Amino acid sequence: MCGIVGYVGKEKAKTRIIDGLKRLEYRGYDSAGIALATGEGIEVRKRVGGIEKLEEIITDAGFDGEMGIGHTRWATHGAPSDINAHPHLNEKGDIAVVHNGIIENYLELREWLADEKNITFRSETDSEVIAHLIGACYEGDIYEAVRKATKKMRGAYAICVMAAAEPDKLIAVRKDAPLVVGCGDGCNFVASDIPALLPYTKEVYLLENNETVVLTPDDVCIYDDGGNRVTRDVFHVTWDVDAAEKEGYEHFMLKEIHEQPKGLWETLTRRLDENGDIKLDGISMTGEDIRNFDKIYIVACGTAYHAGLVGKYIIEKYAGITVEVDIASEFRYRYPLVDERTLFIAISQSGETTDTLEALREAKRKGARVLSVVNVVGSSVARESDDVFYTWAGPEIAVASTKAYTTQLMCMYLLGLYMGKQTGVLEEKKYREIIEELKTIPDMLTEILEKENDIKGIARRFYRREKVFFIGRGTDSAVSYEGSLKLKEISYINSFAIAAGELKHGTIALVEPGVLFIAMCTQDRLYEKMVSNVQEIIARSGEIFAVAKEGGEEIKKHADNTFYIPRCSDDVAPILSVVPLQLFAYYVSVMRGNDADKPRNLAKSVTVE
Ligand code: AGP
Repeated sequence: MCGIVGYVGKEKAKTRIIDGLKRLEYRGYDSAGIALATGEGIEVRKRVGGIEKLEEIITDAGFDGEMGIGHTRWATHGAPSDINAHPHLNEKGDIAVVHNGIIENYLELREWLADEKNITFRSETDSEVIAHLIGACYEGDIYEAVRKATKKMRGAYAICVMAAAEPDKLIAVRKDAPLVVGCGDGCNFVASDIPALLPYTKEVYLLENNETVVLTPDDVCIYDDGGNRVTRDVFHVTWDVDAAEKEGYEHFMLKEIHEQPKGLWETLTRRLDENGDIKLDGISMTGEDIRNFDKIYIVACGTAYHAGLVGKYIIEKYAGITVEVDIASEFRYRYPLVDERTLFIAISQSGETTDTLEALREAKRKGARVLSVVNVVGSSVARESDDVFYTWAGPEIAVASTKAYTTQLMCMYLLGLYMGKQTGVLEEKKYREIIEELKTIPDMLTEILEKENDIKGIARRFYRREKVFFIGRGTDSAVSYEGSLKLKEISYINSFAIAAGELKHGTIALVEPGVLFIAMCTQDRLYEKMVSNVQEIIARSGEIFAVAKEGGEEIKKHADNTFYIPRCSDDVAPILSVVPLQLFAYYVSVMRGNDADKPRNLAKSVTVE
């Protein structure tokens, strides 16, 4: 989604803003722009295309200043074009705005501005309306003008605003779209996400929803939507620029696949007390609350939804509570049976996915208790939940989610174990056994990564295929859905996943020479059935790449390629078996000449419905 960077201070703003925008490229965009207070008023330069295209038109030293705002746009209203790029100016050209989100009543506002203020619009965007609206409200105090204007706006918006008449003051507002403030030495920043700030500061204010911040070179003032001054502790960022860089890997995605052992260890060990018991710090849900739940909804999108599919198996088995898993964009339009005895679990890496956020709000309105599993600290989903379970995966930059997924799975196990202890369904001995096995996961995952070249070889054999189907049973079917999404979103191969038991009910008609089936065979109790499925496919000239546990020799007699994961229980297998699929998708994408980090049409965080 769009990226925002604002700077006000005693140094030159241009390089700091452009550098910050480059660190937000992972959010996905199609155009970029910058506005600077140059001393002769505000000057805006913007262009469709990458930041490098913008840099071509801002090389002149005279185009600079000590305050400015920059933007990378992911188009929602209006096609990618120079004129639709941000920043947008009011008619007089003395107020500039950048915006992330959607103004739902922009047409109504556009008509009012045209009719009542005789405004002529230059672009097709909803964002330009904001600039004119603030201009119409401006009477010499940009903070007051922004307050008045935002009261007329409906929708989601993170905005940053500057006025030519006040060249040392930036105003920013957060409403249902991410925004953070960076505190520098004699300067201050605002940005859509923390990586943009890291070269300059690790002292960050996480803005709450409906808050407005006024930045000057030496001060940061936060106000709530009633205009009351808010005090806020500074959040010290513990990870550094390198953590948000590639560290020698060709792509962020490969780096993040390799970071999984560390992320899983962090996610697990931070939740074990000195006795090895699970402690869910920061989660206020009591044992009594848990025993009172008669249903759990797990609601998410994409990869996070696939983590929920595994979570269903685990939580129902360990805690004995019915779990329904739903796609967020569907949940809202059903008539979900949600009440005070419902636990609503939202899973979201970014914590900004609009579909998930709106589903969470719907559940809250119906009385559910909301727990979110989130990777981005202080994100919207986190802030609107009763309890937050952070995945501690570190920043995930690649659009295709990998380490966030496996740490989400880890959170599902921890929740299932914790709740199972509270409901009494899980015996102490089993509880301890599973925790001990989870501790071995990082090392077993490292063993898999050490066989990366085996996967690369299998990718080389199959990367030109145009039809790749994933099959599995039990939690292997949930992992199949994730493997298929990984492959399609970065290789653009037509892929889908199906529960292996469903093949005979229609899909087996698609088996023909050249079709590759990736068969997940890690569930001991379902292994023989999977071998049978594989034989049915081979009998019809399909090809097989199987993933199985070490020791499962039978499958190897039938599959064209077999990749073995270390022996483990059926329960924890999903955390391991997904990794060969992540690597397979990554290498196929690279071999097909794609950008594995920034696949076409996709964004890292989807903050539109
Ligand atoms: C996953 O690889 C995709 N990038 C996408 O499906 C993603 O999982 C989905 O958009 C949900 O994002 P979230 O976890 O940030 O809510």
